[in-house]
Order: sequence, then structure tokens, then C-alpha cells
Amino acid sequence: MGRYALLILPSANRVYAEASIALTVAELEAFGQAVLGGRIAGACPATIAGVPYVTFTADRLDARDTALLANLSSAYALFEVDGESGKSGEALRPVELRPLDRFDDDLITIQKYQGKTNEQFTKLLLNVTLLASAFAPDMLDRKFTVLDPLCGRGTTLNQALMYGFDAAGIDLDAKDFDAYAAFIETWLKRKRIKHHAERARLRAGGKVTGRRLRISLAADAGDYKSGITQRLDVVNADTARAAEFFRPETFDLVVADAPYGVQHGSRTAAKGLARSPADLLAAAAPAWATLLRSGGACGIAWNTLVARREQAAGILADAGLDPVDAGSYLGFRHRVDQAIVRDILVARKP
Ligand SMILES: C[S@@+](CC[C@H](N)C(=O)[O-])C[C@H]1O[C@@H](n2cnc3c(N)ncnc32)[C@H](O)[C@@H]1O
Repeated sequence: MGRYALLILPSANRVYAEASIALTVAELEAFGQAVLGGRIAGACPATIAGVPYVTFTADRLDARDTALLANLSSAYALFEVDGESGKSGEALRPVELRPLDRFDDDLITIQKYQGKTNEQFTKLLLNVTLLASAFAPDMLDRKFTVLDPLCGRGTTLNQALMYGFDAAGIDLDAKDFDAYAAFIETWLKRKRIKHHAERARLRAGGKVTGRRLRISLAADAGDYKSGITQRLDVVNADTARAAEFFRPETFDLVVADAPYGVQHGSRTAAKGLARSPADLLAAAAPAWATLLRSGGACGIAWNTLVARREQAAGILADAGLDPVDAGSYLGFRHRVDQAIVRDILVARKP
């Protein structure tokens, strides 16, 4: 049995304050259960030579195991611990981490704006949603299709692209759509990444009802030439209309950070701007569920001070999804600031 020590990204403390260790432990357990055959045990905080780590035990991790763990949202470095805990002679041997990352990380970090979902949290949300899906064992091999139906300026979309996945998004805010379209097109050009972009206006009954940007791209020019591309598809419209824009059972994962009801509210056609995202979820969840393929999963983050977990779970269950309300999936609630206590709820499509 090996003992391992995970060094957490320094930024995690800034993002999560005192919750960073608990969130790392919960994410590690989700990886352990979903893709490492339950072989990770005893994840807990530990201080080694004055530096805080999360340590755990596991049967010797092979290259595939560490390639999976390399994608932990808070992973900075991983070590195998030699020698007895706390005794002199204890030594840390670095374990090579090769994350899925396809592009330079400025794809995810450059954009800064009010209302952005923190990129580390976005990766956590995407990871734990993926790990709850029936396709989790294929994390390293499958080109997942991901929809963020409240995509803002694309933090989830960028993380999905980073993983080599296809990404789609919907947002009602025209400024967010324009800002993201401008960012991604400029970024692709500046990085000389082969791509093809198309913009369209969506019409119904003779009226323009939305806009759409579709891009096909490839990290490798040879892949692009051979048609091995990633797709990005962003729609500027109400998310309750999601089923008008995509075919049923198109997505493996639906991942959304709902409006927090503090500066940014939730909009529904029926009730306008509301503090709680419950009406928005209730209006849109049935469409989101239709777009998920069987075995897929939907992961939502929201502010529990404006909508309770049971309420969110009830809405997803009414849409025909099975909320995952057990184990590490109950361990993601954390305080962001005085007005926001954030949680993650994941539900599977049977
Ligand atoms: C918390 S923000 C998501 C931010 C995003 N993850 C990012 O990092 O840019 C929630 C988003 O929901 C969008 N929204 C609210 N009501 C909506 C609706 N009915 N249809 C589509 N988008 C909506 C808002 O415009 C906002 O961009």
C-alpha cells in the first residue's frame, strides 16, 4: 500500500478559504470511487515539514491512475511518501502528472470580469459531473460533449475545450455572448490554432430570436486537416428554449453555475428577474434533461442562501434525473462570502 501526498494549488486557499482541504478530499474521493476502483483511502489533511498537503493511501498508482488524478481541480503536485509518517527519513518522491490539457492555460485565465465563475471551481464542477456519469471510466479517452446552458463568458466551455471535449453553451445576455465570441476568436487567431468560425442569426416566425457562433478547431494542424476537430457552439437566447437549438440526447454532460441572486439574477420569460434560481431551473431543467444522453449527468452549482438543496434536487428529479445524494457528493458545500454559500448538485440521466 502506497502513501501519497497531494500539494494543493496555492490559489485554492484564495478561492475557497478554509474549505479548500475539504473540497479536495471530496473531489479525490469522487475520483477514487468512479475511476480508481475505490482504491483511495484515508484522504485527510497532513502537514509535512511545515507544508500542508492532503495525504491518502492507495495500492500503487499506475500511469493511468496518475493521469486521471492529474486532472484534479486543485492538484499542484503529487508525491509518493517514503518512510514512516512524521519520522525522520520521511521523503517525498515526485509523481509525474500529465493532465489532459490541450492548450495554453491562458485560454482559461485571461478573461477577467464580474460574474465569472472561478476557473478552479468550474473545473471541480465539470470533473465531479463527469465522474458521476456512466462514461467516467473513459475520461482519458472519450471526447465528451458538454453543454453549459448558463455559460456566461464561457469558463466551462474553455475548460471543456482544454480537456479536448466538444463544448456548447447558451446565455441570454447579449454582452456576454459578444464578449465571449470576441475573446475566443481573437485567442484562436493569436495562438494560430486552425479553426473555422460561422455566425448565424436564429429566426422564428420572421423574427430574430437569437444568435449563434459555431467554431470547429483542432490543437494540432494535422488533425484539423484530417477533420479530427473539436466543436464549440454558443447560442445567445433563453436557456428554457435549449431544446430548440440542439438535438435530443446530444450531450454527455450538462454543467451550469446558476445565477447567485446577489448582483446577477435568474431570468425567466414568465417572471422576469428573480433572486432565486429555482424558477429558472424549473423552467429549463426539462429541456436540459432531454438534451442529455442516457448515462449522462447534470451538475449544477448555486447559492444555497437563495434556494435550498432539497428544492434544487426536487426540480432535477421532476425533470427525470436521479440526484446523487450520497458520499462525497454531499461534501461540496462551501462559503464563498457573506452572501453566498455555494453547493454542487449532480444528477444522472437514467
Ligand atoms: C453565474 S453566471 C455564469 C457565469 C459563467 N459560468 C462564467 O464564468 O462566465 C449565470 C449566467 O446565467 C445567465 N442567465 C440567467 N437567466 C438566463 C436565462 N433565462 N437563459 C440563459 N441564461 C441566463 C446570466 O446571463 C449569467 O451569465
